[in-house]
Amino acid sequence: HAETGAQAWLRYAPPPDPPRYRDMPHEIVRLGHAPEEQAAAEELETGLGRMIAGAPETLPAFHRDIDAIVLGTADEMRRSESMQRHLHGYQPVPLAPDAFRITHVRNRARQCWVIQGGSPRGVLYGAFRLLQWIAQDRQLPTDTTETPASTIRWVDEWDNLDGSVERGYAGPSIFFDHGHVRGDLSRVHDYARMLASVGINGITVNNVNSDLRTLQPEMLEEFARIADSLRPYGIRMALSVDLSSPQVVGGLPTFDPVDPRVIAWWQAKVDEIYKLIPDFAGFTVKADSEGRPGPHQYGRSPLDAANALAKPLQAHGGVVLYRGFVYNNHLDFHDLKADRARAGYDNFRAYDGKFLPNVIIQVKHGPIDFQVREPVSPLIATLRHTPQAMEVQITQEYLGQQRHMVYIAPMWSWVLDTDMRVDNQPSPVRDIITGKTFYQAQGGMVGVANVGMETNWLHHPMALANLYSFGRLAWNPTLTPESTLDEWTRMTWSNDGRVYEPIEQMNLASWHAYEQYTGPLGLGTLTDILGTHFGPGPESADGNGWGQWIRAVPGPHGGIGMDRTVATGTGYIGQYPPELAAKYESLKTCPDDLLLFMHHVPWTYKLRGDDPGDKTTPSAKGAPTANDADDESEAKTSTKTVIQHIYDAHYAGAATAAAFVDQWESVKSLIDEPRYNEVHALLVFQARHAEIWRDAINDWFARESGVPDALGFVGHH
Ligand code: GCU
Repeated sequence: HAETGAQAWLRYAPPPDPPRYRDMPHEIVRLGHAPEEQAAAEELETGLGRMIAGAPETLPAFHRDIDAIVLGTADEMRRSESMQRHLHGYQPVPLAPDAFRITHVRNRARQCWVIQGGSPRGVLYGAFRLLQWIAQDRQLPTDTTETPASTIRWVDEWDNLDGSVERGYAGPSIFFDHGHVRGDLSRVHDYARMLASVGINGITVNNVNSDLRTLQPEMLEEFARIADSLRPYGIRMALSVDLSSPQVVGGLPTFDPVDPRVIAWWQAKVDEIYKLIPDFAGFTVKADSEGRPGPHQYGRSPLDAANALAKPLQAHGGVVLYRGFVYNNHLDFHDLKADRARAGYDNFRAYDGKFLPNVIIQVKHGPIDFQVREPVSPLIATLRHTPQAMEVQITQEYLGQQRHMVYIAPMWSWVLDTDMRVDNQPSPVRDIITGKTFYQAQGGMVGVANVGMETNWLHHPMALANLYSFGRLAWNPTLTPESTLDEWTRMTWSNDGRVYEPIEQMNLASWHAYEQYTGPLGLGTLTDILGTHFGPGPESADGNGWGQWIRAVPGPHGGIGMDRTVATGTGYIGQYPPELAAKYESLKTCPDDLLLFMHHVPWTYKLRGDDPGDKTTPSAKGAPTANDADDESEAKTSTKTVIQHIYDAHYAGAATAAAFVDQWESVKSLIDEPRYNEVHALLVFQARHAEIWRDAINDWFARESGVPDALGFVGHH
């Protein structure tokens, strides 16, 4: 069992239809010697050995006419005499660096698979892809080329040097222990392998709330060992740095980013790092945010700070991922114009186009903080002359902390699909962040993963679907959440439809169910934001400086929601391009699922009825709903009130969570017992906890609003 969990989706269980792969060669011809190519050959040996039997072996060249899987870059193929002699039917094609081409080549009686990489890393990605097809029991295509959509396909780990992980829910750090890099980095090696299998090429290994020791010379030597473990899998290491380092590590009297001594210090520090880590990826920076020091202290801007770090990195091919998460967490709740959601745009807009080319602004997908539903950050449509990477959370800080099954890829796809209407033209988020819309050479996605020492990396076995899908979407953001889930489920659980179908149905229902039993209509998660962010805590939203407000006004004449309109509210909506702003500004066109994020309305305000949760979900049988009569054709004519929707959604969501347990029980005899039991226990917990959520939130809203539940359930549990 331990083995199964640690292997995640790289189990390589034999496919149900081995004859389909009968002709797969057992010899691997590896033309290059780069570490990534060695890893590719090893992976093929392991994967093919487990799935198709036989003992595959790797050779440096064709020694005679054999069937083989050939690995190499175009140059290596052209230089290889044995390839010329034995496989002249294959002509290498030009490929982008991380791209690959997989081709089935028939030469007389022989057949070969050629995996050509645009670089050694591309070769590795191609090898993983071929193995994935087999593990997913797919018909093998005969000629496929894949090029990743973006350059930045990174994960961030919020690991502290003492071994703890901020917002990590699966045990201590795999990198650090008691102030040092771990002696045994075998978990890091295994993690790198998983990440490479889905195309991740960078990792920031320490917390964005960075330890002040990070840039000390002795620590850098230790970090270099992590970089060594990642290198065979083509993953470059980055570090989170604290902007006060020139002072606290360097002993300078200041860390003002434009001070010549500070500039010289960063230059020397970067050179020192590259001596130890020649492929160092760069710095991740959190500054002037949640108590972290930053340029603001000296009256300087994010521009001054980002460029000070970018300059020395530029010469070495490194980048700065400067986080757009800069905001004031001491906002005045009584100021109706105060709005945390405005901060990203307000703090960065003025500097667009002025950053050095190796500065990438890392923008959280929503303007607040990874809530169960937020609109897309308007900063994403605003930075036209600056590369961006969109930050998402794989770790489920606000999404049940891996004690709830919440498959997040549908949310990411919803974000990636959102058309920002820049200049009234189609401009979906996926095209902006990959650099297409504004012709940027860099860009991409960063996922905050926060894996831990627990065997299966993220605690909930289902949570691995999020890590997997994140990587796949960073590689190709046009993939659907259904397809990435299907890939993951087949590799992790089974190619038997009786197993993968219920697992996929459950996962696909989970985000919306969680939204329903936590905070629907754009309210945000409604968790305890002043504490652990786990469990219901609607009373913690208002009245403090954090700005995750819902502005609940008690009494039947009160109401709920943040007025972010231009007309009467904080003006946040005006940060969007005009067409999208107009859609959100008008109550007639603002979608229900963002209503209370954008508007303050009376408790009894009637919804548009476009939220799918307003109708009964088939999996939520028995859940009461006040508009059972509604069907699809009447979708826009709901007469349900906001408060009744809140009540009903909580019943529907909790009922869906309860149904997960039954769905899971249907696979009992078809999968191994330890994994079955582990997931069962978690789903039973989730079902009960969803009821606690339902009742806590509904009771609170009943008290605040004074409006009773029309169905009479609330308050009578
Ligand atoms: C959230 C999270 C913090 C984290 C911060 C960030 O606020 O709760 O733990 O440090 O995001 O992204 O910087």
